[in-house]
Amino acid sequence: MDKIIAILDFGSQYTQVIARRIRESHVHSRIFHYSTSADKLREEGVAGIILSGGPCSVFQENAPHPDPALFELGVPVLGICYGLQLMGELLGGEVASSEEREYGHGMLDVVEEGSPLFEGVKSSVRVWNSHGDKLTGLPEGFVAIASTENSPFAAIGNDARKFYGIQFHPEVAHSEQGADMLRNFLFAICGCEEDWQMKNFAENSIRAIKERVGDKHVILGLSGGVDSSVAAALIHRAIGDQLTCVFVDNGLLRANERETVEALFRDTFHMDLRTIDASERFLSKLKDVSDPEQKRKIIGHEFVAVFEDTIKDIGDVEFLAQGTLYPDVIESVAIEGNPAALIKTHHNVGGLPEDMKFQLLEPLNELFKDEVRALGEELGLPHRVLYRHPFPGPGLAVRVMGDIRPEYLNVLRQADAIFMEELETSGHYNEVWQAFCVFLPVRTVGVMGDERTYEHVVALRAVESSDAMTANWAHLPHDFLQQVSSRIINEVRGINRVVLDISSKPPSTIEWE
Ligand code: XMP
Repeated sequence: MDKIIAILDFGSQYTQVIARRIRESHVHSRIFHYSTSADKLREEGVAGIILSGGPCSVFQENAPHPDPALFELGVPVLGICYGLQLMGELLGGEVASSEEREYGHGMLDVVEEGSPLFEGVKSSVRVWNSHGDKLTGLPEGFVAIASTENSPFAAIGNDARKFYGIQFHPEVAHSEQGADMLRNFLFAICGCEEDWQMKNFAENSIRAIKERVGDKHVILGLSGGVDSSVAAALIHRAIGDQLTCVFVDNGLLRANERETVEALFRDTFHMDLRTIDASERFLSKLKDVSDPEQKRKIIGHEFVAVFEDTIKDIGDVEFLAQGTLYPDVIESVAIEGNPAALIKTHHNVGGLPEDMKFQLLEPLNELFKDEVRALGEELGLPHRVLYRHPFPGPGLAVRVMGDIRPEYLNVLRQADAIFMEELETSGHYNEVWQAFCVFLPVRTVGVMGDERTYEHVVALRAVESSDAMTANWAHLPHDFLQQVSSRIINEVRGINRVVLDISSKPPSTIEWE
Protein backbone atom coordinates (compact mmCIF):
# COMPACT_ATOMS: atom_id res chain seq x y z
CA MET A 1 0.00 0.00 0.00
CA ASP A 2 1.08 3.57 -0.73
CA LYS A 3 2.31 5.57 2.19
CA ILE A 4 -0.25 8.27 2.88
CA ILE A 5 0.20 11.48 4.79
CA ALA A 6 -3.09 12.46 6.40
CA ILE A 7 -3.80 16.17 6.76
CA LEU A 8 -6.47 16.76 9.38
CA ASP A 9 -8.29 19.91 8.36
CA PHE A 10 -9.14 22.34 11.13
CA GLY A 11 -10.39 24.93 8.69
CA SER A 12 -7.21 26.73 7.69
CA GLN A 13 -7.24 28.62 4.44
CA TYR A 14 -3.88 26.96 3.80
CA THR A 15 -4.89 23.31 4.15
CA GLN A 16 -4.93 22.80 0.39
CA VAL A 17 -1.59 24.53 0.12
CA ILE A 18 -0.11 21.95 2.52
CA ALA A 19 -1.57 19.21 0.31
CA ARG A 20 -0.06 20.85 -2.74
CA ARG A 21 3.40 21.07 -1.15
CA ILE A 22 3.21 17.35 -0.38
CA ARG A 23 2.17 16.53 -3.96
CA GLU A 24 5.10 18.61 -5.18
CA SER A 25 7.34 16.33 -3.13
CA HIS A 26 5.77 13.32 -4.92
CA VAL A 27 4.17 11.95 -1.79
CA HIS A 28 0.54 10.86 -1.53
CA SER A 29 -1.49 13.05 0.82
CA ARG A 30 -5.15 13.14 1.68
CA ILE A 31 -7.18 15.69 3.53
CA PHE A 32 -9.46 14.33 6.26
CA HIS A 33 -12.06 16.01 8.43
CA TYR A 34 -10.49 16.93 11.76
CA SER A 35 -12.77 14.54 13.64
CA THR A 36 -11.66 11.42 11.69
CA SER A 37 -11.11 8.59 14.15
CA ALA A 38 -7.68 7.18 14.86
CA ASP A 39 -9.01 3.74 13.82
CA LYS A 40 -9.98 5.06 10.42
CA LEU A 41 -6.54 6.65 10.00
CA ARG A 42 -4.92 3.35 10.94
CA GLU A 43 -7.05 1.50 8.38
CA GLU A 44 -5.97 3.99 5.73
CA GLY A 45 -2.39 3.08 6.56
CA VAL A 46 -1.22 6.60 7.26
CA ALA A 47 2.51 7.09 7.61
CA GLY A 48 2.23 10.50 9.23
CA ILE A 49 -0.36 13.03 10.31
CA ILE A 50 -0.37 16.79 9.88
CA LEU A 51 -2.72 18.86 12.01
CA SER A 52 -3.52 21.94 9.95
CA GLY A 53 -3.96 25.45 11.20
CA GLY A 54 -7.42 26.88 11.72
CA PRO A 55 -9.30 30.03 12.59
CA CYS A 56 -10.31 28.95 16.12
CA SER A 57 -8.66 29.39 19.46
CA VAL A 58 -8.22 26.28 21.61
CA PHE A 59 -10.00 28.24 24.34
CA GLN A 60 -13.15 28.71 22.34
CA GLU A 61 -16.18 26.70 23.30
CA ASN A 62 -16.62 23.92 20.73
CA ALA A 63 -13.10 24.44 19.38
CA PRO A 64 -12.49 21.56 16.97
CA HIS A 65 -10.53 18.68 18.51
CA PRO A 66 -9.04 15.59 16.89
CA ASP A 67 -9.44 12.07 18.24
CA PRO A 68 -6.79 12.04 21.03
CA ALA A 69 -6.09 8.38 20.21
CA LEU A 70 -4.20 9.51 17.12
CA PHE A 71 -1.25 10.23 19.40
CA GLU A 72 -1.20 6.51 20.23
CA LEU A 73 -1.00 5.29 16.63
CA GLY A 74 2.79 5.25 16.68
CA VAL A 75 3.04 7.47 13.61
CA PRO A 76 4.73 10.90 13.42
CA VAL A 77 2.55 13.97 13.94
CA LEU A 78 3.26 17.54 12.84
CA GLY A 79 1.07 20.31 14.25
CA ILE A 80 0.99 23.58 12.37
CA CYS A 81 -0.18 26.78 14.10
CA TYR A 82 -3.56 25.79 15.64
CA GLY A 83 -2.30 22.21 15.27
CA LEU A 84 0.68 23.04 17.50
CA GLN A 85 -1.59 24.59 20.12
CA LEU A 86 -3.79 21.50 20.06
CA MET A 87 -0.75 19.29 20.63
CA GLY A 88 0.29 21.52 23.47
CA GLU A 89 -3.13 21.33 25.05
CA LEU A 90 -3.74 17.61 24.48
CA LEU A 91 -0.26 16.45 25.50
CA GLY A 92 -0.08 18.41 28.74
CA GLY A 93 1.70 21.63 27.79
CA GLU A 94 0.46 25.12 28.45
CA VAL A 95 -1.22 27.39 25.98
CA ALA A 96 -1.93 31.03 26.69
CA SER A 97 -4.54 33.01 24.92
CA SER A 98 -3.17 36.21 23.59
CA GLU A 99 -5.02 39.41 22.98
CA GLU A 100 -2.85 40.30 20.06
CA ARG A 101 -2.52 38.25 16.94
CA GLU A 102 0.97 37.83 15.61
CA TYR A 103 0.45 38.37 11.94
CA GLY A 104 3.01 38.67 9.18
CA HIS A 105 6.72 38.11 8.85
CA GLY A 106 9.00 37.29 11.73
CA MET A 107 12.51 35.93 12.23
CA LEU A 108 12.83 32.40 13.50
CA ASP A 109 16.03 31.43 15.32
CA VAL A 110 17.08 27.84 15.83
CA VAL A 111 17.83 27.20 19.50
CA GLU A 112 18.42 23.45 19.44
CA GLU A 113 20.70 22.03 16.75
CA GLY A 114 20.21 18.56 15.35
CA SER A 115 16.42 18.26 15.04
CA PRO A 116 15.55 16.12 12.01
CA LEU A 117 12.75 18.60 11.22
CA PHE A 118 15.32 21.37 10.73
CA GLU A 119 17.99 19.37 8.88
CA GLY A 120 19.57 21.72 6.33
CA VAL A 121 17.66 24.75 7.63
CA LYS A 122 19.72 27.91 8.32
CA SER A 123 20.08 29.08 11.91
CA SER A 124 17.88 32.09 11.25
CA VAL A 125 15.04 32.24 8.69
CA ARG A 126 12.12 34.51 7.86
CA VAL A 127 8.77 32.87 8.49
CA TRP A 128 5.12 33.75 8.04
CA ASN A 129 3.00 33.89 11.18
CA SER A 130 -0.71 34.11 11.71
CA HIS A 131 -1.77 33.12 15.19
CA GLY A 132 -3.38 34.39 18.34
CA ASP A 133 -2.76 31.86 21.12
CA LYS A 134 0.71 30.65 21.86
CA LEU A 135 2.43 27.83 23.62
CA THR A 136 3.89 28.94 26.96
CA GLY A 137 4.83 25.59 28.50
CA LEU A 138 6.23 22.51 26.75
CA PRO A 139 4.43 19.18 26.93
CA GLU A 140 6.46 16.44 28.57
CA GLY A 141 9.25 14.98 26.46
CA PHE A 142 9.39 18.00 24.12
CA VAL A 143 12.22 20.46 23.58
CA ALA A 144 12.18 23.87 21.94
CA ILE A 145 13.80 23.73 18.50
CA ALA A 146 13.36 27.35 17.45
CA SER A 147 11.96 30.60 18.76
CA THR A 148 10.75 33.95 17.51
CA GLU A 149 10.78 37.27 19.29
CA ASN A 150 7.28 36.61 20.63
CA SER A 151 7.31 32.84 21.08
CA PRO A 152 9.99 30.89 22.88
CA PHE A 153 8.35 27.73 21.54
CA ALA A 154 7.83 28.57 17.86
CA ALA A 155 9.04 25.10 16.87
CA ILE A 156 9.07 22.14 19.23
CA GLY A 157 9.83 18.46 18.96
CA ASN A 158 9.80 15.14 20.70
CA ASP A 159 12.23 12.98 18.72
CA ALA A 160 11.39 9.79 20.62
CA ARG A 161 7.70 9.92 19.68
CA LYS A 162 8.34 11.82 16.42
CA PHE A 163 5.91 14.59 17.36
CA TYR A 164 6.64 18.09 16.10
CA GLY A 165 4.88 21.40 16.21
CA ILE A 166 5.45 24.71 14.48
CA GLN A 167 3.79 27.99 15.21
CA PHE A 168 4.28 29.53 11.75
CA HIS A 169 3.10 28.39 8.32
CA PRO A 170 5.82 26.39 6.52
CA GLU A 171 3.51 25.72 3.57
CA VAL A 172 3.31 29.30 2.31
CA ALA A 173 5.96 30.51 -0.09
CA HIS A 174 6.86 33.43 2.20
CA SER A 175 8.22 31.12 4.90
CA GLU A 176 11.86 30.72 4.00
CA GLN A 177 12.85 27.04 3.85
CA GLY A 178 9.34 26.05 4.95
CA ALA A 179 9.26 23.55 2.09
CA ASP A 180 12.49 21.99 3.45
CA MET A 181 10.89 21.54 6.88
CA LEU A 182 7.89 19.81 5.31
CA ARG A 183 10.17 17.61 3.22
CA ASN A 184 12.13 16.69 6.34
CA PHE A 185 8.89 15.66 7.99
CA LEU A 186 7.87 13.54 4.99
CA PHE A 187 11.16 11.81 4.23
CA ALA A 188 13.40 11.85 7.32
CA ILE A 189 10.65 11.57 9.91
CA CYS A 190 7.77 9.64 8.24
CA GLY A 191 10.01 7.57 5.94
CA CYS A 192 8.04 8.39 2.78
CA GLU A 193 9.48 7.90 -0.67
CA GLU A 194 9.00 9.96 -3.78
CA ASP A 195 6.56 7.59 -5.37
CA TRP A 196 3.46 9.66 -6.06
CA GLN A 197 2.72 11.16 -9.52
CA MET A 198 -0.17 12.91 -11.26
CA LYS A 199 -0.91 9.47 -12.71
CA ASN A 200 -1.79 8.32 -9.20
CA PHE A 201 -4.08 11.29 -8.72
CA ALA A 202 -5.86 10.37 -11.95
CA GLU A 203 -6.22 6.72 -10.91
CA ASN A 204 -7.53 7.54 -7.44
CA SER A 205 -9.85 10.17 -8.76
CA ILE A 206 -11.26 7.86 -11.44
CA ARG A 207 -11.90 5.21 -8.81
CA ALA A 208 -13.62 7.73 -6.53
CA ILE A 209 -15.81 9.07 -9.35
CA LYS A 210 -16.89 5.54 -10.30
CA GLU A 211 -17.82 4.77 -6.73
CA ARG A 212 -19.70 7.99 -6.17
CA VAL A 213 -21.62 8.05 -9.46
CA GLY A 214 -22.50 4.35 -9.61
CA ASP A 215 -24.91 3.86 -12.51
CA LYS A 216 -26.24 7.43 -12.46
CA HIS A 217 -25.93 10.05 -15.17
CA VAL A 218 -23.66 13.11 -15.14
CA ILE A 219 -23.94 16.29 -17.16
CA LEU A 220 -21.13 18.77 -17.73
CA GLY A 221 -21.12 22.17 -19.42
CA LEU A 222 -18.08 22.08 -21.67
CA SER A 223 -16.63 25.44 -22.69
CA GLY A 224 -13.52 24.13 -24.40
CA GLY A 225 -11.33 25.88 -21.79
CA VAL A 226 -8.71 24.10 -19.70
CA ASP A 227 -10.78 23.36 -16.60
CA SER A 228 -13.94 21.98 -18.14
CA SER A 229 -11.91 20.04 -20.73
CA VAL A 230 -9.79 18.30 -18.10
CA ALA A 231 -12.84 17.60 -15.93
CA ALA A 232 -14.62 16.09 -18.94
CA ALA A 233 -11.66 13.88 -19.88
CA LEU A 234 -11.27 12.66 -16.30
CA ILE A 235 -14.94 11.90 -15.71
CA HIS A 236 -15.23 10.27 -19.12
CA ARG A 237 -12.36 7.92 -18.22
CA ALA A 238 -14.28 6.97 -15.11
CA ILE A 239 -17.81 6.50 -16.40
CA GLY A 240 -17.75 6.67 -20.22
CA ASP A 241 -21.19 7.25 -21.72
CA GLN A 242 -22.80 8.00 -18.38
CA LEU A 243 -21.30 11.45 -18.96
CA THR A 244 -23.00 13.86 -21.32
CA CYS A 245 -21.13 17.04 -22.20
CA VAL A 246 -23.08 20.06 -23.33
CA PHE A 247 -21.41 22.69 -25.46
CA VAL A 248 -23.50 25.79 -25.99
CA ASP A 249 -22.82 27.73 -29.17
CA ASN A 250 -23.99 31.16 -28.07
CA GLY A 251 -23.01 32.83 -31.32
CA LEU A 252 -20.22 34.62 -29.47
CA LEU A 253 -17.47 32.09 -30.07
CA ARG A 254 -14.20 32.61 -31.91
CA ALA A 255 -13.47 31.34 -35.42
CA ASN A 256 -13.64 27.50 -35.66
CA GLU A 257 -14.17 27.13 -31.93
CA ARG A 258 -17.18 24.88 -32.16
CA GLU A 259 -15.63 22.66 -34.84
CA THR A 260 -12.44 22.26 -32.80
CA VAL A 261 -14.32 21.25 -29.65
CA GLU A 262 -16.45 18.78 -31.60
CA ALA A 263 -13.45 17.26 -33.36
CA LEU A 264 -11.62 16.69 -30.11
CA PHE A 265 -14.34 15.54 -27.75
CA ARG A 266 -16.69 13.78 -30.13
CA ASP A 267 -14.37 12.41 -32.78
CA THR A 268 -11.17 11.77 -30.83
CA PHE A 269 -12.43 11.08 -27.31
CA HIS A 270 -15.77 9.60 -28.44
CA MET A 271 -17.73 11.41 -25.77
CA ASP A 272 -21.46 11.94 -25.80
CA LEU A 273 -21.19 15.61 -26.74
CA ARG A 274 -24.32 17.63 -27.44
CA THR A 275 -23.69 20.87 -29.25
CA ILE A 276 -26.57 23.24 -28.75
CA ASP A 277 -26.77 25.84 -31.46
CA ALA A 278 -28.31 28.70 -29.55
CA SER A 279 -26.70 31.54 -31.44
CA GLU A 280 -29.93 32.99 -32.76
CA ARG A 281 -31.48 32.86 -29.35
CA PHE A 282 -28.57 34.74 -27.76
CA LEU A 283 -28.06 37.24 -30.56
CA SER A 284 -31.72 38.17 -30.78
CA LYS A 285 -31.83 38.80 -27.02
CA LEU A 286 -28.69 40.94 -27.33
CA LYS A 287 -29.98 42.98 -30.23
CA ASP A 288 -29.51 46.73 -29.62
CA VAL A 289 -28.09 46.16 -26.15
CA SER A 290 -24.92 48.14 -25.58
CA ASP A 291 -24.58 48.32 -21.81
CA PRO A 292 -21.89 45.84 -20.68
CA GLU A 293 -23.64 44.80 -17.48
CA GLN A 294 -26.85 44.27 -19.35
CA LYS A 295 -25.07 42.11 -21.93
CA ARG A 296 -23.58 39.93 -19.22
CA LYS A 297 -26.94 39.53 -17.50
CA ILE A 298 -28.68 38.48 -20.67
CA ILE A 299 -25.95 36.00 -21.57
CA GLY A 300 -25.87 34.49 -18.07
CA HIS A 301 -29.62 34.15 -18.05
CA GLU A 302 -29.82 32.61 -21.53
CA PHE A 303 -27.07 30.18 -20.74
CA VAL A 304 -28.95 28.87 -17.74
CA ALA A 305 -32.17 28.64 -19.77
CA VAL A 306 -30.49 26.71 -22.61
CA PHE A 307 -28.74 24.42 -20.17
CA GLU A 308 -31.98 23.75 -18.35
CA ASP A 309 -33.78 22.82 -21.58
CA THR A 310 -30.97 20.48 -22.52
CA ILE A 311 -31.06 18.76 -19.16
CA LYS A 312 -34.79 18.23 -19.54
CA ASP A 313 -34.14 16.59 -22.92
CA ILE A 314 -31.52 14.27 -21.53
CA GLY A 315 -33.78 13.16 -18.70
CA ASP A 316 -32.54 11.43 -15.62
CA VAL A 317 -29.51 13.44 -14.57
CA GLU A 318 -28.26 13.04 -11.02
CA PHE A 319 -24.94 14.88 -11.08
CA LEU A 320 -23.81 18.22 -12.41
CA ALA A 321 -20.05 18.21 -13.02
CA GLN A 322 -17.93 21.35 -12.95
CA GLY A 323 -14.27 22.03 -13.49
CA THR A 324 -14.00 24.13 -10.33
CA LEU A 325 -10.41 24.55 -9.17
CA TYR A 326 -9.14 25.12 -5.66
CA PRO A 327 -8.53 28.84 -6.19
CA ASP A 328 -12.19 29.16 -7.22
CA VAL A 329 -13.35 27.63 -3.97
CA ILE A 330 -11.36 29.44 -1.36
CA GLU A 331 -12.26 32.82 -0.21
CA SER A 332 -9.62 35.23 -1.33
CA VAL A 333 -8.29 36.95 1.74
CA ALA A 334 -8.07 40.58 0.91
CA ILE A 335 -5.43 41.49 3.42
CA GLU A 336 -2.45 43.33 2.14
CA GLY A 337 0.63 41.18 1.88
CA ASN A 338 -1.25 37.93 2.17
CA PRO A 339 1.24 35.35 1.02
CA ALA A 340 -1.23 32.85 -0.28
CA ALA A 341 -2.05 35.35 -3.05
CA LEU A 342 -4.72 33.05 -4.32
CA ILE A 343 -7.17 34.07 -6.96
CA LYS A 344 -10.86 33.85 -6.71
CA THR A 345 -12.69 33.77 -9.99
CA HIS A 346 -15.06 36.62 -9.96
CA HIS A 347 -16.82 35.97 -13.18
CA ASN A 348 -18.82 32.79 -12.94
CA VAL A 349 -21.92 32.36 -15.02
CA GLY A 350 -24.98 32.43 -12.75
CA GLY A 351 -26.29 29.32 -11.05
CA LEU A 352 -29.08 27.02 -12.02
CA PRO A 353 -32.50 27.51 -10.45
CA GLU A 354 -33.22 26.26 -6.97
CA ASP A 355 -35.65 23.57 -8.09
CA MET A 356 -33.05 21.83 -10.23
CA LYS A 357 -31.40 19.73 -7.61
CA PHE A 358 -28.17 18.02 -8.56
CA GLN A 359 -25.31 16.63 -6.68
CA LEU A 360 -22.19 18.53 -7.62
CA LEU A 361 -19.23 16.61 -8.97
CA GLU A 362 -16.09 18.73 -8.84
CA PRO A 363 -13.12 16.42 -9.23
CA LEU A 364 -10.56 19.22 -9.66
CA ASN A 365 -11.44 21.21 -6.59
CA GLU A 366 -8.26 20.33 -4.74
CA LEU A 367 -5.96 21.25 -7.59
CA PHE A 368 -4.20 24.40 -8.71
CA LYS A 369 -4.15 25.46 -12.36
CA ASP A 370 -0.70 24.11 -13.19
CA GLU A 371 -1.65 20.79 -11.60
CA VAL A 372 -4.80 20.67 -13.73
CA ARG A 373 -2.63 21.10 -16.81
CA ALA A 374 -0.37 18.26 -15.66
CA LEU A 375 -3.44 16.09 -15.12
CA GLY A 376 -4.75 17.03 -18.57
CA GLU A 377 -1.46 15.91 -20.09
CA GLU A 378 -1.77 12.63 -18.23
CA LEU A 379 -5.23 12.18 -19.75
CA GLY A 380 -3.98 12.84 -23.27
CA LEU A 381 -5.40 16.30 -23.89
CA PRO A 382 -3.46 18.28 -26.48
CA HIS A 383 -1.05 21.01 -25.45
CA ARG A 384 -3.00 23.68 -27.34
CA VAL A 385 -6.07 23.00 -25.19
CA LEU A 386 -4.13 22.95 -21.92
CA TYR A 387 -2.17 26.12 -22.58
CA ARG A 388 -4.86 28.15 -24.26
CA HIS A 389 -5.32 31.74 -23.13
CA PRO A 390 -8.32 32.38 -20.87
CA PHE A 391 -11.50 33.26 -22.73
CA PRO A 392 -14.39 34.96 -20.93
CA GLY A 393 -17.71 33.17 -20.48
CA PRO A 394 -19.65 35.94 -22.32
CA GLY A 395 -17.26 35.44 -25.23
CA LEU A 396 -16.94 38.02 -27.96
CA ALA A 397 -19.82 40.01 -26.43
CA VAL A 398 -17.26 41.70 -24.18
CA ARG A 399 -15.00 42.37 -27.18
CA VAL A 400 -17.49 44.09 -29.45
CA MET A 401 -18.03 47.53 -28.01
CA GLY A 402 -21.59 48.77 -28.08
CA ASP A 403 -24.30 46.84 -29.96
CA ILE A 404 -23.45 43.34 -31.01
CA ARG A 405 -24.15 42.77 -34.69
CA PRO A 406 -23.44 39.61 -36.65
CA GLU A 407 -21.32 41.54 -39.16
CA TYR A 408 -19.19 43.00 -36.36
CA LEU A 409 -18.68 39.54 -34.87
CA ASN A 410 -17.69 38.26 -38.24
CA VAL A 411 -15.05 40.93 -38.71
CA LEU A 412 -13.75 40.47 -35.17
CA ARG A 413 -13.42 36.70 -35.65
CA GLN A 414 -11.30 37.13 -38.76
CA ALA A 415 -9.04 39.74 -37.20
CA ASP A 416 -8.64 37.72 -34.01
CA ALA A 417 -7.78 34.57 -35.95
CA ILE A 418 -4.99 36.44 -37.75
CA PHE A 419 -3.61 37.82 -34.48
CA MET A 420 -3.66 34.31 -32.94
CA GLU A 421 -2.02 32.72 -35.96
CA GLU A 422 0.78 35.28 -35.95
CA LEU A 423 1.27 34.91 -32.19
CA GLU A 424 1.56 31.16 -32.57
CA THR A 425 3.92 31.08 -35.52
CA SER A 426 6.17 33.72 -33.94
CA GLY A 427 6.27 31.92 -30.58
CA HIS A 428 4.84 34.93 -28.71
CA TYR A 429 1.61 33.11 -27.87
CA ASN A 430 3.12 31.31 -24.90
CA GLU A 431 4.95 34.39 -23.66
CA VAL A 432 1.80 36.39 -23.02
CA TRP A 433 -0.95 35.68 -20.52
CA GLN A 434 -3.72 36.61 -22.90
CA ALA A 435 -4.13 38.30 -26.26
CA PHE A 436 -7.12 39.15 -28.41
CA CYS A 437 -8.69 41.70 -30.71
CA VAL A 438 -11.41 44.18 -29.78
CA PHE A 439 -13.91 45.57 -32.29
CA LEU A 440 -14.54 49.32 -32.13
CA PRO A 441 -17.73 50.51 -33.78
CA VAL A 442 -16.25 53.81 -34.88
CA ARG A 443 -15.38 54.54 -38.48
CA THR A 444 -12.27 56.34 -39.58
CA VAL A 445 -11.05 57.46 -42.95
CA GLY A 446 -8.43 55.57 -44.88
CA VAL A 447 -7.20 55.17 -48.38
CA MET A 448 -6.82 51.92 -50.27
CA GLY A 449 -5.42 52.11 -53.76
CA ASP A 450 -7.09 55.19 -55.20
CA GLU A 451 -10.13 54.89 -53.06
CA ARG A 452 -11.07 56.63 -49.89
CA THR A 453 -12.38 54.21 -47.27
CA TYR A 454 -14.51 54.82 -44.21
CA GLU A 455 -14.34 51.73 -42.03
CA HIS A 456 -14.08 50.29 -38.54
CA VAL A 457 -11.18 49.97 -36.11
CA VAL A 458 -9.72 46.91 -34.41
CA ALA A 459 -7.61 47.15 -31.24
CA LEU A 460 -4.95 44.61 -30.33
CA ARG A 461 -4.78 43.68 -26.66
CA ALA A 462 -1.95 41.57 -25.26
CA VAL A 463 -1.03 41.40 -21.58
CA GLU A 464 1.46 39.76 -19.29
CA SER A 465 0.16 38.57 -15.96
CA SER A 466 0.40 35.71 -13.51
CA ASP A 467 -3.12 35.65 -12.15
CA ALA A 468 -5.18 38.24 -14.08
CA MET A 469 -5.52 40.37 -10.94
CA THR A 470 -2.86 42.73 -12.24
CA ALA A 471 -1.46 42.86 -15.75
CA ASN A 472 1.02 44.79 -17.84
CA TRP A 473 0.58 45.41 -21.52
CA ALA A 474 2.93 43.13 -23.42
CA HIS A 475 5.77 44.85 -25.27
CA LEU A 476 5.49 42.87 -28.48
CA PRO A 477 8.18 43.65 -31.08
CA HIS A 478 7.37 46.37 -33.60
CA ASP A 479 8.05 44.11 -36.60
CA PHE A 480 5.59 41.61 -35.28
CA LEU A 481 2.93 44.27 -34.69
CA GLN A 482 3.56 45.62 -38.16
CA GLN A 483 2.93 42.18 -39.65
CA VAL A 484 -0.31 41.68 -37.69
CA SER A 485 -1.59 45.12 -38.56
CA SER A 486 -0.93 44.87 -42.27
CA ARG A 487 -2.43 41.40 -42.48
CA ILE A 488 -5.61 42.49 -40.70
CA ILE A 489 -6.05 45.59 -42.84
CA ASN A 490 -5.33 43.70 -46.06
CA GLU A 491 -7.29 40.55 -45.32
CA VAL A 492 -10.29 41.64 -43.28
CA ARG A 493 -12.87 43.59 -45.19
CA GLY A 494 -14.40 46.32 -43.09
CA ILE A 495 -11.25 47.25 -41.14
CA ASN A 496 -8.93 50.03 -42.23
CA ARG A 497 -7.18 50.82 -38.95
CA VAL A 498 -5.49 48.78 -36.21
CA VAL A 499 -4.50 50.29 -32.87
CA LEU A 500 -2.60 48.87 -29.90
CA ASP A 501 -3.87 49.00 -26.32
CA ILE A 502 -1.03 50.14 -24.05
CA SER A 503 -2.92 50.22 -20.75
CA SER A 504 -2.11 48.12 -17.72
CA LYS A 505 -4.37 46.71 -15.04
CA PRO A 506 -5.06 48.50 -12.78
CA PRO A 507 -6.41 51.03 -13.58
CA SER A 508 -7.65 49.47 -16.84
CA THR A 509 -9.04 45.95 -17.02
CA ILE A 510 -7.87 43.23 -19.37
CA GLU A 511 -11.14 43.01 -21.29
CA TRP A 512 -12.65 46.20 -22.68
CA GLU A 513 -16.28 45.10 -22.14
P1 XMP B 1 -10.65 41.73 -16.39
O1 XMP B 1 -11.21 42.21 -17.68
O2 XMP B 1 -11.60 41.83 -15.26
O3 XMP B 1 -10.40 40.19 -16.62
O4 XMP B 1 -9.31 42.35 -16.09
C1 XMP B 1 -9.64 39.34 -15.80
C2 XMP B 1 -9.65 37.96 -16.44
O5 XMP B 1 -10.96 37.41 -16.38
C3 XMP B 1 -11.44 37.15 -17.69
N1 XMP B 1 -12.85 37.54 -17.73
C4 XMP B 1 -13.87 36.69 -17.65
N2 XMP B 1 -13.90 35.34 -17.54
N3 XMP B 1 -16.26 35.37 -17.53
C5 XMP B 1 -15.10 34.70 -17.50
O6 XMP B 1 -15.14 33.47 -17.43
C6 XMP B 1 -16.31 36.73 -17.62
O7 XMP B 1 -17.37 37.33 -17.65
C7 XMP B 1 -15.05 37.41 -17.69
N4 XMP B 1 -14.69 38.72 -17.79
C8 XMP B 1 -13.36 38.77 -17.80
C9 XMP B 1 -10.59 37.98 -18.62
O8 XMP B 1 -10.56 37.42 -19.93
C10 XMP B 1 -9.27 37.95 -17.92
O9 XMP B 1 -8.57 36.76 -18.17
